[in-house]
Amino acid sequence: MKVEINGRPFGEEPRPGQCLRTYLRERGWFGVKKGCDAGDCGACTVHVDGEPVHSCLYPAFRADGRSVTTVEGLASPDGELHPVQRRFLDAQGFQCGFCTAGFLMTTAALDEEQLADLPRAFKGNLCRCTGYRAIEDAVRGVRHTEAPAPGESVGRSLPAPAGPQVVTGTARYTFDLDVPGLLHMKLLRSPHAHARILAIDTAAALRVPGVHAVLTRHDAPRRHFSTARHEHPEEDPEDTRVLDDTVRYVGQRVAAVVADSEAAAEEGCRRIEVTYEVLPAVLDPEEAMRPGAPVVHDKDAATARIARPRDNVVGEAHGEIGDVAAGFAGADAVYEETFRTQRVQHASLETHGAVAWIDDDGRLTVRTSSQTPFLTRRALCALYDLPPERVRVVAGWVGGGFGGKQEMLVEDVVALAVLRLRRPVKLEYTRAEQFYGATTRHPFTIRVKAGARRDGTLTALRLRVVANTGAYGNHGPAVMFHSVGESRAVYRAPHKKVDAFSVYTHTVPAGAFRGYGLGQVLFAVESALDELARRLGLDPLEFKARNIIGPTEPMLTPGGHEEDLHIASYGLDQCLSIVRRAQAEPAAEPVPDGWLLGQGAALAMIATGPPGGHLADARAALLPDGTFDLAVGTAEFGNGTTTVHQQIAAGELGTTVERIAVRQSDTDVVRHDTGAFGSTGTVVAGKATLRACRALADQVLDFAAAHLGVAREGCRLAPEAVLHPGGRLPLKEVYDAARALGLGLAADGHFGGTPRSVAFNAHWFRVAVAPGTGEIRILRSVHAADAGKVMNPMQCRGQVEGGVAQALGATLFEQVRLDERGAVDTAAFRRYRLPQYADVPRTEVHFMETADAIGPLGAKSMSESPFNPVAPALANAVRDATGVRFTELPLTRDRVWRALERRSRTRRRPGSP
Ligand code: FES
Repeated sequence: MKVEINGRPFGEEPRPGQCLRTYLRERGWFGVKKGCDAGDCGACTVHVDGEPVHSCLYPAFRADGRSVTTVEGLASPDGELHPVQRRFLDAQGFQCGFCTAGFLMTTAALDEEQLADLPRAFKGNLCRCTGYRAIEDAVRGVRHTEAPAPGESVGRSLPAPAGPQVVTGTARYTFDLDVPGLLHMKLLRSPHAHARILAIDTAAALRVPGVHAVLTRHDAPRRHFSTARHEHPEEDPEDTRVLDDTVRYVGQRVAAVVADSEAAAEEGCRRIEVTYEVLPAVLDPEEAMRPGAPVVHDKDAATARIARPRDNVVGEAHGEIGDVAAGFAGADAVYEETFRTQRVQHASLETHGAVAWIDDDGRLTVRTSSQTPFLTRRALCALYDLPPERVRVVAGWVGGGFGGKQEMLVEDVVALAVLRLRRPVKLEYTRAEQFYGATTRHPFTIRVKAGARRDGTLTALRLRVVANTGAYGNHGPAVMFHSVGESRAVYRAPHKKVDAFSVYTHTVPAGAFRGYGLGQVLFAVESALDELARRLGLDPLEFKARNIIGPTEPMLTPGGHEEDLHIASYGLDQCLSIVRRAQAEPAAEPVPDGWLLGQGAALAMIATGPPGGHLADARAALLPDGTFDLAVGTAEFGNGTTTVHQQIAAGELGTTVERIAVRQSDTDVVRHDTGAFGSTGTVVAGKATLRACRALADQVLDFAAAHLGVAREGCRLAPEAVLHPGGRLPLKEVYDAARALGLGLAADGHFGGTPRSVAFNAHWFRVAVAPGTGEIRILRSVHAADAGKVMNPMQCRGQVEGGVAQALGATLFEQVRLDERGAVDTAAFRRYRLPQYADVPRTEVHFMETADAIGPLGAKSMSESPFNPVAPALANAVRDATGVRFTELPLTRDRVWRALERRSRTRRRPGSP
């Protein structure tokens, strides 16, 4: 075989059946990504003789005699970026960047005609983060980035510091490194929803050439843990073992095979013989709560932290304010309905995975695609009785998370293998495993009852919520609590009641996912209040506006008042004004003949950070060349925190972002960080950065005054120098002087994540619905976001657009379906439809003018919250168009068509209105 790759000759023969993707990666071209290995996502796109191909489907041997270009070869030999790379940089056409190489390669091969039809041109490329608008802007040559003056970077649209690496394919994600002597792990998974493992015969597996070990329950620690990662792990149920003797869902790990190659590990898995005693399973949460249902975890409630194990209730919340019965009795109209939401997968393009080894100092080092490196280290230490200084956890670039990586799903078993074999081991989930072996959004059933007086005053609101947490409790109780918190607190009905249950079933576990349960309950509440308003003959938006919480009112949640939760800035009224304006504007969009036209809105409130504290440390230091080092614990997974931290630091240190080098996502760089989840990257970790940099600025100026003859009064930091009334003192000299005295100029910052504020969002849609097919066409999409002081408008807008796009997928078509055994039968992108470029309309994003009294420099969070109002806003718009209230997600074409058909059949009946 002779192939030219990025202008260099290669001659190694591929293995039989090897695809071009792995052939390229094995030769160090890590810009070629694995998103699905099925030709669905396009992350592996390369050019063969100038033609774009999905290299995961392209047999490596077919490249014989051809020229292959990967993203690393797109720039000119002298390093000049390809125009497409330049445009993606200027428009920041990426977030996590895992899809970017594929988009770049596809775009670079488009001709003029194809460029004019991007929905068609991008049929083979998926992006889970951006909502595609930034990608379209990049292709069209729109420039969003700014270059502000020193010290003025906060509030400006600055690019991500790793942008050049992302567009050149040199950003290093979890598996983008060579590890000598690497072994590969594959997992044998359960075919049963519920079974006891009576015996495992590993002899044949161990005879497979290249297999080094087969790990079973006998090798795993006896102790139980929770895969959820929280600062306070005592809040999560301890129901999981690394390898258990009972399996509780189809797809649960049974054994792990470690071998020289993935193929040998897979063959080892096939040779393991397992004897199961199949047990009865329960798949439905309501059935699971009935007397006599199979018990998923027969454990002691107190030690396992399960509310009622025999009833399969892992957590529950009950609370009443006022007297709801009296509230409904005093209402002129009452609406009651049951709403249902479905399982949805995070579908981050980089799947779960970790690679671990023992380093030269004998430390267990785990490189993982995680939102929580510090908490993962803590969990590994607890599992394997290791002191923290013997374990290092580091995340490279993380290819998307959305909450799915606030979980320890792979690191535990990889660590087990490394500690046993003392060899480097890698486990990388396939896309199929991501569907049946990772977590999903919790499916919810929500019974809502709402009553109001004729004048539009809400009198009572009652919720009964059942969340299906699947076979393991991980985030179940916390999601359930959060789901009925802000969703209920945002309305000020005097009488409120909630009963909420998080319930085990023998199905794939649910977990943390953008919005953390709020989106599900808001779909029900915002739909119900819309319907109630219509029944009272009121405008739904004005009805809601009349009943929302005001800026000085207390936040009441199921447990009563959360002492640390405040409205530290209030932009909800501004959000509603944006929606009102959109609603009042006449429809300008063309509507096909016969289609039904409607509009609808929904609002949302969310706490900026989880309850109970969320810890962040940062350390800022002056470097010898007069630039600064900033170490933060929080992970970057496309949410833009690295840029925001640079901006905060540059602002405090009077410099430009290029002079701030950020190190992060590594347990070695700071003392502790709870993690990048709960919308905390800016508001919690950002505050630690602010404090560290503010302290460092003072320290530098104090030192210059004390030791270098600078008048403290009137002096300030500027790029590369201290400016003082007498002139300019280079920072290099300050560093050297401190060094000569044996001092380092460095400062620490810490924030505990409390008190917390709330952010607000509202969304409005105008839609057209085709009565003959059920197709929903979004004509206009408007989002109002109260993010406080917006630190980086371009990135924040990207978070909103990405959140809206992800919510549109969950509203319109995404669904993890289970078969009658409880097995996932949508375990591929072609069976689980992610929004494509053509599916996502442009959303007009508006930011409110507020400044938060708690958040750093007035900022609030904006990473989860855009998701939450989308589904009810769309359902309300469809209701307005069709007259049908949809109570179940997703609003697929079939479901809408069936409902419209049912209604028209009913109307055709004699006597029907
Ligand atoms: Fe496209 Fe993350 S930026 S998948």
